[in-house]
Amino acid sequence: MKVAIVLGTRPEIIKMAPIVRVLERDGLDYFILHTGQHYSYNMDRVFFEQLGLPEATFNLDVGSGSHGEQTGRMLIKIERVLRSEAHDVVLVVGDTNTVLAGALAAVKLGFKVGHVEAGLRSYDREMPEEVNRVLVDHCSDSLFAPTEKAERILLSEGIPEEKIFVTGNTIVDSVYQNLEIAGRKVNIYEELGVEKCGYFLATVHRQENVDNERRFRGILKGLEMIREEFDLPVIYPIHPRAERQLKIFNIEVNGIEIVKPLDYLSFLQLESSAKLVLTDSGGVQEEACILGVPCVTLRYNTERPETLDVGANVLAGTDPHEIVKKTRIMANKRSCWENPFGDGKAGERIVQILWEKYG
Ligand code: UD1
Ligand code: UDP
Repeated sequence: MKVAIVLGTRPEIIKMAPIVRVLERDGLDYFILHTGQHYSYNMDRVFFEQLGLPEATFNLDVGSGSHGEQTGRMLIKIERVLRSEAHDVVLVVGDTNTVLAGALAAVKLGFKVGHVEAGLRSYDREMPEEVNRVLVDHCSDSLFAPTEKAERILLSEGIPEEKIFVTGNTIVDSVYQNLEIAGRKVNIYEELGVEKCGYFLATVHRQENVDNERRFRGILKGLEMIREEFDLPVIYPIHPRAERQLKIFNIEVNGIEIVKPLDYLSFLQLESSAKLVLTDSGGVQEEACILGVPCVTLRYNTERPETLDVGANVLAGTDPHEIVKKTRIMANKRSCWENPFGDGKAGERIVQILWEKYG
């Protein structure tokens, strides 16, 4: 069996790493095709280095652009590679334009697609990711659903049961594999001058939030009010899209500590001891839940409802007063919920299934 792994952004590298680790350990054949959707050192290479991933065999250097441009460039270039490089299955994870292009290029050539993190739905078609999720799920041959809830969604959409496998989410594998390593290798508390549990951690990057001036200003105002009310630092490792939008909207930020995007070990360590996490990221909602850190989600919906069900997360939207209100509630929450995303062996299960189906 030979697996063609298509990835291109920060969360895909982090969530694919546990699968690559198993493929490497078992001496199985695979190659990595990197679209280059993310390309800055701290959004891309640093994760390959820290997670010990081998170099991508192909890097398409597609870079940034409008959705159509970016996805179109990827399609053309991915198709060329998949045509010339033998493989039995194309594996993608998540919901980015890279994932859509990888799946679409493959399926149009008649190749089998495996979708890791299948069956997530926010039911908000304004999110580019929601469109990608639906399309990729419906053209995949193997759907690796992280939870039974995700499986039920796929079944309700008419996807045949035999294509769906509940495996857990590989983000659990990543957290378990790297938290202890982080403890040995980095000390982000010292670097940032914060005390454990004595700070809030924020990440904001969703297109529908940061490209919308009113929403972005609302979120930043909420973070500033939290800083004042709790008298604790709010650390915001800023995503390049958000950084770009701050400049475009000419927004001046007060009271929030904006830092560059962090490497994975530092981010995980910072997240694990935050008093509370405020985020619009998908992966960060999951990680906070796994780490037992309360989360306030800066969105009106989530495709990770399991985090709400167990009481680890609440939706606050983008209104500053609502963000503060939800933060007050969650800040005093005891973190005794169960992790709904699996046991940290998702990577193992996915490789086993790939082997049984395509080996
Ligand atoms: C993409 C995904 C989103 C995911 C996020 C993970 C889509 C539609 N969106 O959003 O689902 O949550 O990645 O982080 O696929 N930029 C850089 N350096 C980089 C990458 C981007 O400076 O390495 C800047 C550029 O100005 C670029 C902007 O960020 O225009 C947005 O990048 P893009 O890849 O289009 O989308 P993300 O917002 O990163
Ligand atoms: N992350 C990181 N450094 C940061 C911010 C996030 O390593 O400064 C990691 C985080 O641990 C999580 C992933 O990036 O695993 C989430 O990616 P992102 O928020 O960019 O995308 P999403 O999950 O929303 O698609």
